[in-house]
Amino acid sequence: MAVYESTHSLVKHKISLLRDHNISIKAFRELAQEVSTMLTMEATRDLPLENKPLTCWSGDISTPFFAGKQPTLVPILRAGLGMLDGALKIVPCAKISVVGIQRNEETLAAESYYENVVSDVAERTAIIVDPMLATGGTAKSTMDLLKESGCKKILAVFLVAAPEGIAHIEQYHPDVDMYIGAIDSKLNDKGYILPGLGDAGDKIFGTL
Ligand code: URA
Repeated sequence: MAVYESTHSLVKHKISLLRDHNISIKAFRELAQEVSTMLTMEATRDLPLENKPLTCWSGDISTPFFAGKQPTLVPILRAGLGMLDGALKIVPCAKISVVGIQRNEETLAAESYYENVVSDVAERTAIIVDPMLATGGTAKSTMDLLKESGCKKILAVFLVAAPEGIAHIEQYHPDVDMYIGAIDSKLNDKGYILPGLGDAGDKIFGTL
């Protein structure tokens, strides 16, 4: 597994802005989408290519295009929806597979309540988008579900991750590469990332 923490100055700057306790819902939404665009750019840099013939202004050439089918973006409900438009800026033809996994706030266990994965996921790279990798339970369950559906290649994009969540994915899905805006210190006793962003879903949906 590769764990990639962005070194891009603008990503670091925008994550700092996201951490501001007094941030508006509008600014949080916009910044979450912007960072998602930048991280999705990083995540897709090694998608497989194949040369195809093309007639261009100077004649016939062989030039690289995506090999096979477009990726499928996998927002984890509900907070992942706050990254979807940003990710789509990089892969505008991607299919979308929606997964609803929520954390039981008492046990912290991940529970699935909705699944709509593209039928040909076996032929696509799946790119999971979720703002926060906390315990890793939700991301792990989504990866389980994608693999059970036949998916062979999974990437994951998170705005902020805790070391505990990264270790959890490393244990159960060592083949999944993760692209992360910032790796923070730890989880608190309620499963929130410190220093973190707070409840990203509440901030995106305005349900604070
Ligand atoms: N989900 C969030 O929105 N924030 C955290 O810190 C952890 C999980």
